Amino acid sequence: MPQPQTFHGRMRGWRAIVTGAGTLGEGVGTGKAIATLFAAEGAKVALFDLDEARAQTTLDLITGMNGEARVFTGNVADPQDAQRMTKEALQWLGGLDTLVNNIGIGAGAGQLHLVPSADIDKVLSVNLGTVINMCREAMPALLKGNGRSIINIASVAGILAHGNSAYGPSKAAVIQLTAELAVMYGRDGIRANCVAPGHILTPMVEAYVKGEGRRVRSAIAPIGVEGDAWDIAQAALFLAGPESRFITGITLPVDGGVTIVGPLAAYESVTQEASAQG
Ligand SMILES: NC(=O)c1ccc[n+]([C@@H]2O[C@H](COP(=O)([O-])OP(=O)(O)OC[C@H]3O[C@@H](n4cnc5c(N)ncnc54)[C@H](O)[C@@H]3O)[C@@H](O)[C@H]2O)c1
Repeated sequence: MPQPQTFHGRMRGWRAIVTGAGTLGEGVGTGKAIATLFAAEGAKVALFDLDEARAQTTLDLITGMNGEARVFTGNVADPQDAQRMTKEALQWLGGLDTLVNNIGIGAGAGQLHLVPSADIDKVLSVNLGTVINMCREAMPALLKGNGRSIINIASVAGILAHGNSAYGPSKAAVIQLTAELAVMYGRDGIRANCVAPGHILTPMVEAYVKGEGRRVRSAIAPIGVEGDAWDIAQAALFLAGPESRFITGITLPVDGGVTIVGPLAAYESVTQEASAQG
């Protein structure tokens, strides 16, 4: 989907935190797209990232669209950093209506007994730990906010097995934690939902996945293409806003249908496309 160009003030007056708001490399990853769309729709957005320069490119994009945002730098997987960044952000925001936990890293691929335990610890502490740290730190402010919504960015790898020791399990944990949050805080007016991206073409994917891998990523989806970061941002906007007020605890796959395809249909779509291409 192209970068949205028309906006409707759907988040005017809202205060949001987006973690992992920068992007590894040139282009637009999901955190950058979510933060930019929220700001373009009128929200004041705190951009959390480990890497100031990456978050700065998001700030530049937002400022260029007359949006309001500020960068807060630190390691969200570290509880002390998460606490400091949230405190600083809340002082600037003046409150909080929406929290988007977007940080996720991939590592720990391969058979479990061959993966260094440090890699597994790292994926769990980043992918699950950042969500836990941010929910703990932001909840008191969120409980007093207006929109009162948490959006966690999981992955289809948290729903379907990919033979990965750490990434999939960490995302499955994020999905379950989201449901627990929905139960724990539902009576307080807080909704919690997940977006599960499928094959999304981000700069990181562009850098590491080439040729056949890219073809299969597209071919395996019933709609036959990869998604992009703006597809995820639009889903996050819907789950943040009042249009989804009766939706909580769910995981919304944004995946071109990858999670509903049976094994033979997936096989045929990939092989037929390959033979059609000669
Ligand atoms: N790209 C895909 O195809 C895909 C598919 C499924 C799920 N996802 C999920 O989408 C999310 C975003 O992916 P992306 O490829 O757009 O992001 P990305 O790799 O571009 O990273 C976004 C930012 O997160 C920051 N970050 C990483 N660890 C951090 C930490 N501990 N503290 C603070 N900041 C940190 C990085 O500096 C980076 O700027 C992740 O949760 C990922 O697992 C992506």
